[in-house]
Amino acid sequence: MVSQAGKLTHAVQYESYGGGAAALKHVEVSIPSPKKHEVLLKLEASSINPVDWKIQKGMIRPFLPRKFPYVPVTDVAGEVVEVGSNVDSLKAGDKVVSMLYLRRGGGLAEYVVASASMTVKRPAEVSAAEGAGLPIAGLTALQSLKSAGIRFKVGSENGANILVTAASGGVGLYAVQLAKLGNCHVTATCGARNLELVKNLGADEVLDYKTPGGATLESPSGKKYDAVIHCATRIPWSTFEPTLSEKGKVIDITLEPAAILTAAIKKITFSKKQLVPLIMSANKEELELLVGLVKEGKLKTVVDSRHPLSQAEAAWAKSIDGHATGKIVVEMGP
Ligand SMILES: NC(=O)c1ccc[n+]([C@@H]2O[C@H](COP(=O)([O-])OP(=O)(O)OC[C@H]3O[C@@H](n4cnc5c(N)ncnc54)[C@H](OP(=O)(O)O)[C@@H]3O)[C@@H](O)[C@H]2O)c1
Repeated sequence: MVSQAGKLTHAVQYESYGGGAAALKHVEVSIPSPKKHEVLLKLEASSINPVDWKIQKGMIRPFLPRKFPYVPVTDVAGEVVEVGSNVDSLKAGDKVVSMLYLRRGGGLAEYVVASASMTVKRPAEVSAAEGAGLPIAGLTALQSLKSAGIRFKVGSENGANILVTAASGGVGLYAVQLAKLGNCHVTATCGARNLELVKNLGADEVLDYKTPGGATLESPSGKKYDAVIHCATRIPWSTFEPTLSEKGKVIDITLEPAAILTAAIKKITFSKKQLVPLIMSANKEELELLVGLVKEGKLKTVVDSRHPLSQAEAAWAKSIDGHATGKIVVEMGP
């Protein structure tokens, strides 16, 4: 294995809070060496999540980033070029999907060091873009559904009525497909331009969120929701409340202050209907499950747009704009 350490490579970083896409800088940095539990990856693709630019905005300050300059983005796919001394599950030449630590970032670059514990093999059937879409968005969708009580074991008869809000987004499109794989009845909200797509990916009923009917979130067939996978913002509890079944839950991934307050009130008042805030956690087995589902053709990564690393700013701006259909992918080229 020829060490890449010290050679220069291209990366995109920012040096302070704020500034959006215009504050991204293209730089040459040294290729790092993997420590004993790490692997060095030559990246083929990465995908942007809203958390990436929220960190830049300072929304998680003072925790993230730990220091500047910071190379953002955590969700990557590429090839292993070097492995640390304690890594025996991976070898040079393996194609992989990996979720990098948020505190270190590194995904907007040609090379990055990743923890072997969050790096999974990527079969030939899963392209780099399809794989790079999975980590944060796919794990959030899967964990939200599990939190709603949906089981994914073969033969599980869930039959739950699920609403997915912002179903055309990165998380929402995975949530719709996974809920169908979990044998749920799925209602989904999205804009008019994505109604067909969301239906084709499995939603039983779709609501245009910009219409009065869509704004009520009511299921056209009159079903009450056992769970809402809530990926949109600015929808108050008073809108959800009448649409929920007796013990219905809203799994809220957007973590708005009003939602956190509602969650606390529902809990201390022993309300049958609950609001459950959810923060995704890194989980290698679940990432392997998602990669496997893509390999089997049971789960699709919908790619909103592809941008070369040299134009990462366009990808960044697109994510900040908030109107992606699926995943925004940055490609590193050959
Ligand atoms: N808690 C966690 O661990 C966690 C993990 C991942 C994501 N998140 C958060 O979850 C949210 C969604 O993430 P994402 O990656 O899916 O975002 P995204 O890909 O940027 O979502 C964009 C999509 O949302 C749609 N949309 C926006 N507002 C809507 C509304 N009111 N009703 C229906 N659709 C709406 C847009 O449709 P139009 O273009 O038609 O408007 C667009 O297709 C973000 O706030 C993100 O920060 C949290």
